[in-house]
Amino acid sequence: MAKLKQQYFSNGFYGIGILNNTTGLNIGTLWRSAHILGASFIFTVDRKYKSQPTDVTSAWTKIPLYHYADIEELISNLPYSTKLVAVEMTETATMLDHFSHPERAAYLLGNEQIGLPESVVKRCHDVIQLPGHYSLNVAVAGSIVAYDRISKLAHSLPTPP
Ligand SMILES: C[S@@+](CC[C@H](N)C(=O)[O-])C[C@H]1O[C@@H](n2cnc3c(N)ncnc32)[C@H](O)[C@@H]1O
Repeated sequence: MAKLKQQYFSNGFYGIGILNNTTGLNIGTLWRSAHILGASFIFTVDRKYKSQPTDVTSAWTKIPLYHYADIEELISNLPYSTKLVAVEMTETATMLDHFSHPERAAYLLGNEQIGLPESVVKRCHDVIQLPGHYSLNVAVAGSIVAYDRISKLAHSLPTPP
């Protein structure tokens, strides 16, 4: 039998999404960053996304945008062997600079008003936190996580044309 010689660009993938998003502007910015920074999919939980001008790349036309009714539906539809990673300021969180990203991950952010409820954080495999005493804008937080991931897993860095 012939040996498999095909080389893959990277091992693993990631998706990023938000729970109960309230403002479309933030999510448009998040989708734009996610697509540019190599996300394989984007998602919403609790609330559907309406097209936003801040997503100038129309990321949802390039990578799948999934809608889940609630956290249970998200968990039961995670890709095989994929970790759900909460991005939230909590006492149990691992600081981002100390975090080793799983090869296959879905990062879940909270909305601007209430963030991720503790009951949701508890359903996630890991929770990570960014530096600072005040919370960042959700799209900024998600973009930093995406950049941290691709910098640490250097083989998955998208290259300029
Ligand atoms: C503006 S924050 C939510 C703030 C909310 N009022 C609260 O007190 O939890 C929106 C989301 O951005 C993410 N976020 C912002 N700053 C963060 C940080 N320093 N560490 C981890 N996640 C952060 C989280 O997903 C958070 O739910």
